[in-house]
Amino acid sequence: MKNIPQHVAIIMDGNGRWAKKQGFATRVRGHELGVEALRRASTGAAELGIRFLTVYAFSEENWQRPKAEVDALMNILMTSLSKELPVLQENGIRLHAIGNLDALPSKARKQLDATREATAGNTRMVLTLALSYGSRQELTSAVRVLAEKAVRGELQAQSISERDVAQALWTHDLPDPELVIRTSGEQRISNFLLWQISYAELVFLPVLWPDFSKEDLVSALSTFAGRERRLGKTSEQLHA
Ligand code: IPE
Ligand code: IPE
Ligand code: MG
Repeated sequence: MKNIPQHVAIIMDGNGRWAKKQGFATRVRGHELGVEALRRASTGAAELGIRFLTVYAFSEENWQRPKAEVDALMNILMTSLSKELPVLQENGIRLHAIGNLDALPSKARKQLDATREATAGNTRMVLTLALSYGSRQELTSAVRVLAEKAVRGELQAQSISERDVAQALWTHDLPDPELVIRTSGEQRISNFLLWQISYAELVFLPVLWPDFSKEDLVSALSTFAGRERRLGKTSEQLHA
């Protein structure tokens, strides 16, 4: 494939509807199968030459879900991190995480740190889990960091640049995504990477996340390849 984006971000949505459609009594089975979809997406992305894959796994707002569902999600996170380690290693995938990670249960946090350490040497692709993540919260924390620097006299308010803002975000070590995919047919961003996706292409797929396949990824990539990314310029300028 040509024109493969360096960084793809995915809003993995539709687990609950998938479970309901399949006749499961709770939404949890959808989340469990969602992990398998993430495995397909990650290995597929690495095979296709994508260097950074960032997935929205749990939003700041998701803490408001019923306690039983939140607990189940945290358990799935913990068990999956250890279970999927061999897959990450075999595929050269380095695990990374962004979000208000201190809000995670300490056991999950520890497991996350252990998996990050264990995969730190992998260089084929970086898989970033957005956990307890909210873009407004991230921007608010960046404003605080910059304000504190200004108060300490390390930064002149007048000289704050886009680069300074980007450096104060949780994503400071990631390039901006060129493509955002959202599954489940919903067409919204839900507080995901607002700053970073300013110029990303958005692709909305009807497939529910547990059914996501490598073919769906390829289809989103070919939609992306067919888009003209003008970045403010004219089409004529791009072709000159
Ligand atoms: C996405 O699926 C997973 C999380 C938000 C954790 P949902 O759980 O939102 O499933 P739907 O959107 O209700 O079908
Ligand atoms: C967004 O999905 C968050 C994740 C995919 C983790 P939601 O299902 O929480 O989003 P809304 O509430 O429908 O916008
Ligand atoms: Mg949803």
